[in-house]
Amino acid sequence: MSNTNTISSAVINRLPRYYRFLADLLREGVDRISSGRLSQRMGVTASQIRQDLNNFGGFGLQGYGYNVKYLHEAIGKILGLDTAHNMIIIGAGNLGRALANYADFENLGFFIISLFDANPELEGTSVRNIPVRGMEGLEAFIRDNHVDIALLCLPKANAIETARMLVKFGIKAIWNFAHIDLELYLPENVLVENVHLSESIMRLSCRMARQKDESEKAETGNG
Ligand code: NAI
Repeated sequence: MSNTNTISSAVINRLPRYYRFLADLLREGVDRISSGRLSQRMGVTASQIRQDLNNFGGFGLQGYGYNVKYLHEAIGKILGLDTAHNMIIIGAGNLGRALANYADFENLGFFIISLFDANPELEGTSVRNIPVRGMEGLEAFIRDNHVDIALLCLPKANAIETARMLVKFGIKAIWNFAHIDLELYLPENVLVENVHLSESIMRLSCRMARQKDESEKAETGNG
């Protein structure tokens, strides 16, 4: 199997989608699947699937297809899902609470063990029995608990300062929801994954605008 460090980020970006489709197949009781059938289900070409999976040593056998359980497990391993991860949420507002309420992360091995917030009124409250703590307890909490990932759910204006503090306390991976490209402000060895839902809605609105343009052009052409 190739070293995952040498795999392109485009391939890595597609792996969670393979993982999700394979999990669905497992739930449906499908043991094996050809790249052709998988490609139909996923709406990508069979050669793309073969190329992608060959990066990891190729999981398929000629004439047999892919063993769904094996492939699901192997991709899960590449995605780091064979290890449980403890997470904390910084910012227990609307978004932080919504994420803490989403129990499905646990099925993937991601456990939210605490929320933290600067607002003293939130201290002592909880979300799904997960406690909200004050920021003054953050350093000791990180020291005493094995925290793998911090989720940043606070305003952009406070994100850099808070992220630097988390790094100082030993955090090495940040799932960032504040509207800022945080990695530009942190040491290179800190892993940052930015999530910007607004970029996703802008992509949809761009496609809507283009579709509208095309149908207007077609109408003008027809008329
Ligand atoms: P909110 O105002 O409901 O919650 C923010 C929370 O952060 C508050 O409870 C506040 O007390 C806390 N906070 C502020 N500064 C803090 C600090 N220095 N340390 C600890 N806690 C602090 O806001 P909401 O709706 O939950 O949004 C949070 C952030 O996420 C905003 O910046 C928003 O723009 C962003 N957002 C990003 C999305 C995305 O797709 N990336 C989607 C929705 C919101």
